[in-house]
Amino acid sequence: MDDLQRYNRATAHLDPPFAVLDLSALRANAEGMLHRAHGKPIRVASKSIRSRAVLERILAMDGFTGIMAFTLPEALWLVSTGMRNVLVAYPTVDRAALAELAAEPLAAREITVMVDQIDHLDLVDSAVAGVPDRQEIRVCLDIDAGYLAFGGRFRAGVRRSPIRESDQAADLATQIAKRPGFRLVGVMAYEAQIAGVGDDPPGKPALTRAIRLMQTRSQRELITRRGRIVQAVRQITDLEFVNGGGTGSIEKTARERAVTEIAAGSGFFHPRLFDFYRGFGGHPAALFALPVVRRPAPGVVTVLGGGYPASGTPGADRLPQPYLPCGLRYDPDEGAGEVQTPLVGQAAEDLRTGDRVWFRHAKAGELCERFASLHLIDGDRVVDEVPTYRGEGRTFL
Ligand SMILES: Cc1ncc(COP(=O)(O)O)c(C=O)c1O
Repeated sequence: MDDLQRYNRATAHLDPPFAVLDLSALRANAEGMLHRAHGKPIRVASKSIRSRAVLERILAMDGFTGIMAFTLPEALWLVSTGMRNVLVAYPTVDRAALAELAAEPLAAREITVMVDQIDHLDLVDSAVAGVPDRQEIRVCLDIDAGYLAFGGRFRAGVRRSPIRESDQAADLATQIAKRPGFRLVGVMAYEAQIAGVGDDPPGKPALTRAIRLMQTRSQRELITRRGRIVQAVRQITDLEFVNGGGTGSIEKTARERAVTEIAAGSGFFHPRLFDFYRGFGGHPAALFALPVVRRPAPGVVTVLGGGYPASGTPGADRLPQPYLPCGLRYDPDEGAGEVQTPLVGQAAEDLRTGDRVWFRHAKAGELCERFASLHLIDGDRVVDEVPTYRGEGRTFL
């Protein structure tokens, strides 16, 4: 039985639209990620999962330790439901959530927030000023892991922290160490230009060469710089962890001595944008099914919904991929529509009204902002239905 038959058989009792998670694909992806990590623990990036039940399944496997959350309200919620060791990877200015963090000993013990400037500490102090018995706030230093060349005129990577060099990191670490109410416990440096950029984009040889060159140089530069930064900060305070990497860089980041843990999330679902890396593959695990609702002309079928573009620089690569049956593509005049999406291609000839088309999202967790639940498929059966964050009424971003 091929995957299309298997998915159609498993979900024959369901009316699309709905989303599924193929558990055997998820397990195989998780094993592949662990193999690539060479024994270093992987902290699970929740933004790329966005379902508590799925996070719990992943964390039950050996080798995955802790959560990398995307907002403080999310982290507080996760800890209140039993999760532990949660690093919020992006700075927070949510005053109410900070006050809650400072008031709640369990949350303050299990959650670490991200800082990269004194303003972040000032904001925490003002947000928690009225909290009786204020708990110590655990903080992690975010470091810019981007790549600069030609005297800074060329830059690759995401714009995050202003802290780039070891003296800046040591300076901020010293100020945190001196400041009552805070404890510096970690350093994080995310090399998006390696982890999040596929080095094997199809049909673009010049771009491919440029990406590979940039990534090789960036990796080389980062090994030295990250090592220097971590050494400088460790002279000021003991660190519990040094976090780096992402799905696309696991095996590279894991090789760095200074890094104690890798962050990764997308690899579990293996969305479309992760098809274009030389170093690893994966199995599409998260899919959504849309029903064929009409056939406007021979060779064209229209499915309900479908306009779920992924975040990032807009472009065709951000659209979901019509995945099964093979041989479907968007009508270039319409793309993926708000309430309906025409599809053309050979396979459209054989599809009937009421059939379903299976899609992959371009990114991982954003799929879960569209669906209230994930139907878990094992073999050719649905074995469970679990809520997404949205299904639990939680939309953090
Ligand atoms: C701080 C940080 N670490 C790691 C990642 C990698 O996540 P993923 O493995 O889902 O690509 C990201 C993604 O944006 C990130 O922001």
